[in-house]
Amino acid sequence: MIKIILLISILINFILIFYINKKKIRNLFNITKIHKANINEIHEIFSERKISNNLKGPKKETIIKSFCISSDNSIVGMTSDYEGWILSVLSTVSKKIFEFGTCSGKTTYLMALNSNTDTEITTITLRPNQVENIAKDIQDNKVSFKNILKESIYEKFLFSDTEVEKKIKVIFENSLDFNEESFQNMYDLIFIDGGHTYSVVKNDSEKSFRMIKDNGIILWHDYVPGKESAKNVVKYLNEIGSEKNIFHIQNTSLCFYKKKI
Ligand SMILES: C[S@@+](CC[C@H](N)C(=O)[O-])C[C@H]1O[C@@H](n2cnc3c(N)ncnc32)[C@H](O)[C@@H]1O
Repeated sequence: MIKIILLISILINFILIFYINKKKIRNLFNITKIHKANINEIHEIFSERKISNNLKGPKKETIIKSFCISSDNSIVGMTSDYEGWILSVLSTVSKKIFEFGTCSGKTTYLMALNSNTDTEITTITLRPNQVENIAKDIQDNKVSFKNILKESIYEKFLFSDTEVEKKIKVIFENSLDFNEESFQNMYDLIFIDGGHTYSVVKNDSEKSFRMIKDNGIILWHDYVPGKESAKNVVKYLNEIGSEKNIFHIQNTSLCFYKKKI
């Protein structure tokens, strides 16, 4: 009897240890083919100003306009403040910007606030009534598919009725149906943060590779190995990472690609 109780308690302990460390264990088996890169490797604008021997700080070009959103808004699927800063800084040197996935418009608003007055921003998203026609592909992760339904809830955005709204064009369309023919080699900056299912990430990425200009930058959000809702983003980027020269920006969930001439 004592032996059985001992065996059961050992088993419970194993299950508990596995449950508490499940993220670490999953990461252990995830073969990452994406190399990490420092933020300076995206663009020279990120190089810091030396203040003293033990202190470096931001150059004035990287000081941006920003805002906070109250927690009672319960906005889903946003970039972190650090990631928002990276996109804001890159928008200061971009004339044409495209975003896959608007959601609340947090990042769109940041890019509009910080870019030049003649910068054009296009963002594609789904209206709540458009999600009825979204189909799950066999290779699509269930959680990511459900998140598309949860995140497609906005028709008005954080930038609506603001001074910078005129810079932004919102396309309400399934990106799988979006025809990028007339947008080829046009964009300085593309942010891929739409549906996180395999079929949508692959579609948005392949279209972006055609839409990006020489020296242009593509950024993907949510490269988080071990996170269930980001599984398909990680899978797709790991598949194409080495062949396309994609890098994971340290201390973020962003990956980037720079189109070389
Ligand atoms: C993670 S949120 C975007 C967050 C936003 N980029 C930000 O930084 O605040 C995902 C968005 O992608 C949109 N989306 C998902 N699947 C899509 C698809 N197939 N076509 C167009 N938009 C899609 C959703 O409607 C939602 O607005």
